[in-house]
Amino acid sequence: MDRIRIAGGGKLHGTIPISGAKNATLPLMIASLLTDQTLILDNVPRLADVGLLQRILGNHGVDVMVGGKRPGESQYDGQTLHISAARIVDTTAPYELVSKMRASFWVIAPLVARIGEAKVSMPGGCAIGTRPVDFLIMALAQLGVSIEIEGGYVIARAPNGLKGGEIDFPKVTVGGTHTALMAASLASGTTVIENAAREPEITDVADCLNKMGAKITGAGTSRIVVEGVPKLNGARHSVVSDRIETGTYAMAVAMTGGDVMLENARPEQLQAALEVLTQAGVDITPTNSGIRVARNGAGIAPVEVTTAPFPGFPTDLQAQLMALMTRAKGTSRITETIFENRFMHVQELARLGARIQLAGETATIEGVDKLQGAQVMATDLRASVSLVIAALAAEGETMVNRVYHLDRGFERLEDKLSACGATIERISG
Ligand code: UD1
Repeated sequence: MDRIRIAGGGKLHGTIPISGAKNATLPLMIASLLTDQTLILDNVPRLADVGLLQRILGNHGVDVMVGGKRPGESQYDGQTLHISAARIVDTTAPYELVSKMRASFWVIAPLVARIGEAKVSMPGGCAIGTRPVDFLIMALAQLGVSIEIEGGYVIARAPNGLKGGEIDFPKVTVGGTHTALMAASLASGTTVIENAAREPEITDVADCLNKMGAKITGAGTSRIVVEGVPKLNGARHSVVSDRIETGTYAMAVAMTGGDVMLENARPEQLQAALEVLTQAGVDITPTNSGIRVARNGAGIAPVEVTTAPFPGFPTDLQAQLMALMTRAKGTSRITETIFENRFMHVQELARLGARIQLAGETATIEGVDKLQGAQVMATDLRASVSLVIAALAAEGETMVNRVYHLDRGFERLEDKLSACGATIERISG
């Protein structure tokens, strides 16, 4: 298994190109199941999760062709996928595949909407607490899908098609909103989704579905209305940039000090996180081509943050912020409200010398003057990258073990950081 070795201490200077968003790419690829025509996606990041979803879709009979590199393109330019679900050969998504990536459960919506049946294993994925799918099932049931649960599988049937309806989510859910949008697009009549997730990735998927012929209004607000259509077409869509990757590198620069341009980053997608960084004493400057992040001289000021659905501070940046606050001048408090048990990075950060107390859903972080390199283990995607951020500022050498989690969500992390002066290398094997 690959490891990453980091020698901390240096500042970051330069430019980091931000890739297409993983959390938009996955539902966009899944949306290809809604049509027998080709969906072309540009700016797709090169990530392990994208490859895995390609395999999962392949199992249903979907053809995914990866476009070749065009002249003048750099290694950082996203790839183009031509995805064709002309013929669905299998409506079962087996445990072996779905258990590796939670988002693949979402295939249930386009499969039942287009074919009238789907049998999908209950998901696995990142070990961050129990992550049920009850709201996703409820959304499908509201659209007239009959649901049975048998042997760890959810069996969805709608032989006469889906019927528009009212879906009111008891809690904001990104996956539930994606599921509802995809299913409602091919339902007959109107669907109203209340308490919908407002994440930029939802808006991106809704934009793509509209290009495919769907009639969706209100995406990006809490109330989305979908007029069902009988059929969707092919389309071409470029994946929105990754706000979590953006926020992660912004925190890395905040941690080490220095001055970095995050190219293609979109400030409006992460206002809450940028405000927190500003409070922490980091200079944030939106520009025409992205976001410039700098910290020179001044130390890191402590902050109090509670995670919340968009437009609040994202849970997917909670671990990275905690890494940053381990070096703050004072005591910070971070409260996690989206996922219970999303604090696995705490004990690993402690191995580097961090002082963190956990009480329920709140972590209290007492800033220390220095962190010390050590062997650490990555346990989930965002936790892994928080260890990289801490290691960049630690004295001596840190070895981050089990980096396959990083490869699920961060494209060429070590290349992007070393191009800005970090001493970081991947050790294969
Ligand atoms: C997505 C993101 C993930 C992010 C999360 C919250 C992708 C691929 N993943 O995950 O990176 O951390 O949003 O922003 O986009 N819940 C239920 N029942 C359900 C569904 C959800 O109780 O049926 C709960 C969850 O346990 C959690 C909360 O609702 O407490 C929000 O989860 P949700 O927004 O659905 O997360 P995902 O879509 O899985």
